[in-house]
Amino acid sequence: MQTAIALLDLDYFYAQCEELRKPKLIGKPVVIVMPSIRENSGAIATANYLARDQKIKSGMPLQLAKKLANNDTIFINADKGYYKEISSKVFEIIDFFCDKVEQVSIDEAYLDLTSPLGVEKAEDTCIKIKEKIKRELGLTCSIGLSTNKLIAKLGSNEKKPDGLFILYDNFEKFLGKKKIRDLFGVGPKFEKIFKSHGINKISDVKNFKKEELIEWFGKAKGEDFYNFSNGVDERVVEPNREKQQVSRMITLRVDSRDSELILEQINLLSDLVFIEASKTHKKFKTASLVIVNSNFDTVTKSKSKNEINSIEKLIEIEKILLHEFLDESLSKIRRVGVRVSNFEEGKGIQKTLFEFKSG
Ligand code: TMP
Ligand code: CA
Repeated sequence: MQTAIALLDLDYFYAQCEELRKPKLIGKPVVIVMPSIRENSGAIATANYLARDQKIKSGMPLQLAKKLANNDTIFINADKGYYKEISSKVFEIIDFFCDKVEQVSIDEAYLDLTSPLGVEKAEDTCIKIKEKIKRELGLTCSIGLSTNKLIAKLGSNEKKPDGLFILYDNFEKFLGKKKIRDLFGVGPKFEKIFKSHGINKISDVKNFKKEELIEWFGKAKGEDFYNFSNGVDERVVEPNREKQQVSRMITLRVDSRDSELILEQINLLSDLVFIEASKTHKKFKTASLVIVNSNFDTVTKSKSKNEINSIEKLIEIEKILLHEFLDESLSKIRRVGVRVSNFEEGKGIQKTLFEFKSG
């Protein structure tokens, strides 16, 4: 089956968050420091592009970065609480468009966009996610879109910042130019082994047999590296985020204000949404009606209750919301959607994911 997998990565994330709350920083080299308990020591968490031009990089000791910096380079201590808040808002937007999201760090996630909209809509979804993150939060991100995680991740770096890179075929040509270190799972130790066999670029792997890689790295890794170097990656997106909302939308056959006709669709959508939301085994309190009118404007109306514990209750609220909409607006309805959200708090795994994992 054809798949569509995207890797979304916020650009120079911590530094971009600082630029967001202090716009005066824009246009200046900005470096974010993880302070250490020793005075005047620490490591660089990230740097914006102007600071990267000064050869300042993530992971570098503070002292070295200070030597490379100019007088106008600004050093800021990391404020992880603030970055986590921004990250949550970004993920709310991602969750709105995709329900198969694997968060890999505070600013990075894989999205399986294969369904329900289909592979053809994946590019459009990526554009919409980028636009919404920019419009509502003022942040840029870069996305790689492909059929697998490997190419999606490498692709996300191709057009940074604010890039969208799409590649569904010709992986061989794309991978050919990349260094062996770029292959997923190849760190300094494995890079050394590859180099000892004269492999510097991914394309060099094709001079060797799969059996030889298995000999050097063991069965599992040897096979993976062999497959990856040919652009083959079977790893699936493993959703690890708790559902924040469940929604379904439908386009009406013709634009309409006929409440009976629209309610028919709302009943169907409510059924689907309620069943899907019940799978979380959590209570939910908010129901929303999402309307796209003939001018393509989106209007969302919501109501919260102590608990929405039956399909009938959900439909009843949606009905009220529809009548409110029809009373307030003169426009015809093009698309209609039902959404539930405000799930009861649960024990998520998100917290641990926020701890930055290197490599
Ligand atoms: P980025 O800045 O390249 O977008 O990386 C994402 C965030 O992860 C970054 O803003 C800070 C954090 N980070 C570290 O703390 N240490 C590191 O070595 C890297 C690469 C990132
Ligand atoms: Ca990033």
